[in-house]
Amino acid sequence: DEQHALPRPGFHLTPQRNWMNDPNGLVFHRGRWHAFFQYNPEGGDWGNMSWGHASSVDLQHWDEHPVALRYTAEEQVYSGSVVAAGPDGRLTAYYTSVSPDGRQAQARATSDDDGLTWQRDPDNPILDRGSHAFRDPKIIRYEDAAGFRWIMLTVEAVERQVLVYSSTDLRSWEHVSTVGPIGPAGVVWECPDLIPLAVDGRPDELRWVLLLSTNPVGDAQDPDGSSMSYLVGDFDGTVFTPQRAELQRLDHGRDFYAAVGFDRAPDGEAVILGWMGNWRYAADLPASPWRGAMSLPRRLALTTVDGAPRLVQEPPAFVRDRLATIEPTTVALSSDAVDLPLEGDGVVELRWDPSVTGELRLRLTADTDGAVLIVHDPRSSSLAVTRSGGAMDTVHPDFASTSIVPLTGDRPARLLLSLDGPLLELFVDGGLATVSDLVLLGSGRPTLTLASERASPVSVAVAVLDRAPATD
Ligand code: FRU
Repeated sequence: DEQHALPRPGFHLTPQRNWMNDPNGLVFHRGRWHAFFQYNPEGGDWGNMSWGHASSVDLQHWDEHPVALRYTAEEQVYSGSVVAAGPDGRLTAYYTSVSPDGRQAQARATSDDDGLTWQRDPDNPILDRGSHAFRDPKIIRYEDAAGFRWIMLTVEAVERQVLVYSSTDLRSWEHVSTVGPIGPAGVVWECPDLIPLAVDGRPDELRWVLLLSTNPVGDAQDPDGSSMSYLVGDFDGTVFTPQRAELQRLDHGRDFYAAVGFDRAPDGEAVILGWMGNWRYAADLPASPWRGAMSLPRRLALTTVDGAPRLVQEPPAFVRDRLATIEPTTVALSSDAVDLPLEGDGVVELRWDPSVTGELRLRLTADTDGAVLIVHDPRSSSLAVTRSGGAMDTVHPDFASTSIVPLTGDRPARLLLSLDGPLLELFVDGGLATVSDLVLLGSGRPTLTLASERASPVSVAVAVLDRAPATD
C-alpha cells in the first residue's frame, strides 16, 4: 500500500519499523524518560509480542533501543510496567507472560543496565491464577503512617475487574481487594493504573484516579471500538472507593488507548502516555513501514467543575514552553473563510470569544481528499470533530467518525491543536477535554481553514515542532 504510506511523526514516539501497541514500563530513570511498548520485532502485524524500548531526555525526541524483552517459544510478553526500586534505583519489570495454551500470568524481570537488557526471574510466573484473561500488571507506590508498600493493579479482563495486590519486597504479593465490575458490559477491561492527584492543586485534597481501557467484545460490538475511561475516588492502600460509580470518558476521540503513567516523573508530576490506535481498525492501517504511534505525553491534574473533581490533561512541557515563546497574531474573520497554511508539523493554539464569533468552524486538509472538520457550537456548548473522505473510508468501514465533546459552557474558548503526520490531538478548555484521532490527510503541508458565523477576531499562535532538536 505504498501510495497510502503515512508520514512518520516527528515529535511523537513511533518505532522505526514494525507493529507497536500499548506503552509498557514507563519510567523516568537517571535523567531519561524510558518507554517500553508492545512490539512485534518481526513484522507489521500484531504478534510475536515483545517489549520494544525507546528513551528520551525531553519527551520530544526519542532514541529507539534494541528489543528489551523478546518473546520465546514458551511465552509472549504482554503489557506491564517498570519501577525504579531501592536506593540504587534498580529497574524491575512486571509483564504478563502468555503461555502457548493461552494462560496469562504475571512475571518479573530485572535490569542492571538501565533497561537495555533484562534477566527473567527464575521463579516466574510470580502470580498465576490459571486464568486466560489475567493481565497488564501496573506497579505503583503507596505510603501512609503504616509504612511503604508496592501495589500491583491487574485486570481479570473478561470479569471487568481490577485486582489489587500488595507487596513490601516486589516478590511476594497478597490479593487485598477487587474493583468492579462497573459500567457497561460487552467490553473487556485492560491496562489499569491508579494515580494520586491533588484537587485544584491542594496537597491536603488528594484523590486517586483509576484509569481503565475498555475494548468491546462479543456479537453486538460497539463500532466505536476501544476507548479509555476513568473513575475518581479514594484509596487507603487496600481498597479503592470511587466517588461515583460511573465511568467517565477520558478522551473523546477514537484513537487513545492503554495509557498509563510514568513511574518517578520529576517534581511528583503525573505524566501519562497512550497508544494512538483503536483495536477496531488498527490492523487495517497502512504499515509505512512503522505501524503504531504513541500520543503526546500528558500531564494530569484534577479541577473542580460543578462541585466534582474532573480530570485535566495538559500537553507536555516541550509544547507548553514552546507556545509560551510565540506571540499570537489576530486573524480577522468575516463572512469569508480564512486559510492558514501550516508550515510543518506542530501545534496551533486558538482563543476566541464564542459570544462574538457564534459558531466557529475549522477545517484541516492537505493533499488527500481526507478532511477534519471541527465545529465549536456555543449554543449547545459542544465541539464536534469529524474525520471524513475517501482516504479515510478505504481504511475500514468504521474509520470515518464524528466525536461530540461536551464543553463547560462558562469558559472562554481555547483550543490547542497538535498535528504530527497522521496524529491529531486536541486539548479543549485547557485540557478539560481531549480528542485524539488518527487522520489521513497525506504527506503535504496541511492548511487550517477558519470560518465564523459572525465577523470576529480569533487569536492564533502557531509553533512548528519537529524531529530535529530546536537550536533557536
Ligand atoms: C491492550 C492489550 C493488553 C495486552 C496487550 C497485548 O491493548 O490488549 O490487554 O496486554 O494489548 O498486546
